[in-house]
Amino acid sequence: MTKAFNEAEDGFQAVRFDGRDLYLIDQRRLPLTESWLQIKDIEAVIAAIANLVVRGAPAIGITAAYGAVIAARARGSDRAGWMNDLTRLAAARPTAVNLVWAVERMRQFALERGELDADALAEEAHRIHRADIEANRAMAQAGSALIQPGSGVLTHCNTGSLATGGIGTALGVIVAGARDGRIARIYADETRPWLQGSRLTAWELARAGLDFRVIVEGAAAALMAGGAVQWVITGADRIAANGDVANKIGTYSLAVLARHHGVRMMVVAPSSTLDPAMSNGDSIEIEQREAGEIWRAAGFNTQPSGFAAWNPVFDVTPADLVDCIVTEHGVFRPPYDFSAM
Ligand code: MRU
Repeated sequence: MTKAFNEAEDGFQAVRFDGRDLYLIDQRRLPLTESWLQIKDIEAVIAAIANLVVRGAPAIGITAAYGAVIAARARGSDRAGWMNDLTRLAAARPTAVNLVWAVERMRQFALERGELDADALAEEAHRIHRADIEANRAMAQAGSALIQPGSGVLTHCNTGSLATGGIGTALGVIVAGARDGRIARIYADETRPWLQGSRLTAWELARAGLDFRVIVEGAAAALMAGGAVQWVITGADRIAANGDVANKIGTYSLAVLARHHGVRMMVVAPSSTLDPAMSNGDSIEIEQREAGEIWRAAGFNTQPSGFAAWNPVFDVTPADLVDCIVTEHGVFRPPYDFSAM
């Protein structure tokens, strides 16, 4: 029996469902405004995922599971219509496999029951949510146990409560490690262009009462050269069968820098982020977002008329640059083999 969300242990609950409607804190507006969107139909669920109201691989999966419930209530006994909703839901963003994983699990659940029962589907969505909370707790313990007392860590993007069901993946390890005295210094990349680090990770670490420093991505090499960090700790959006890791753009750069400086690289992700169907990272689809995210990053539009920008929002870190992958089933090391899971 899994335990329900507990704020002291699990951080902040960014995705809430009352059995009918979905409530999402609008991550586009953090940390300026803590406003919530009440979501009542599948189109709004798809838009919330596509427009980054909710983001982070596990949180997207949990949102999609509740979205499947909302769609089932609206469709009644129209199974074909519901399947169509699921196909569009699964395509809201391409890189995080948790989205497809959650949609497929809801579809399979309905298939096995042989009927579209929204209340039963809501129970399944709650199970997905509770399992993520539990996975976060297990990973926080397993990951923080690997860190030598007095260490410094650098993280990238946002991987905490806003991105998951519970305390987080990489950020869960960092919060646990800081609380039990293993982590002495926390650095967070600002994470251009969407600023998940300086807007969201900073908001979460401040709420947790932990001291930290935000750096620009360009400062990572100098930080490592100075000896301030012993670990780079990130989450993942999709992990291939060979251990290649798709994660927020810039993760690959950090992994290269870490190897050069003798800093270790830990990736923290629940089993719902593993994609055994991908033998390696080459065929992982990398989401491209609109160039305006880059041109407007200074707070105003810097685009010289007629010129383009390139805005891939994820990259793939080759498995041999990753020292360990922490899941709720334990710690994996190269050569990666997840087949026993
Ligand atoms: O574009 P985003 O903000 O959804 O990207 C999120 C990340 O890349 C996270 O590092 C990843 O989802 C792991 S979150 C626990």
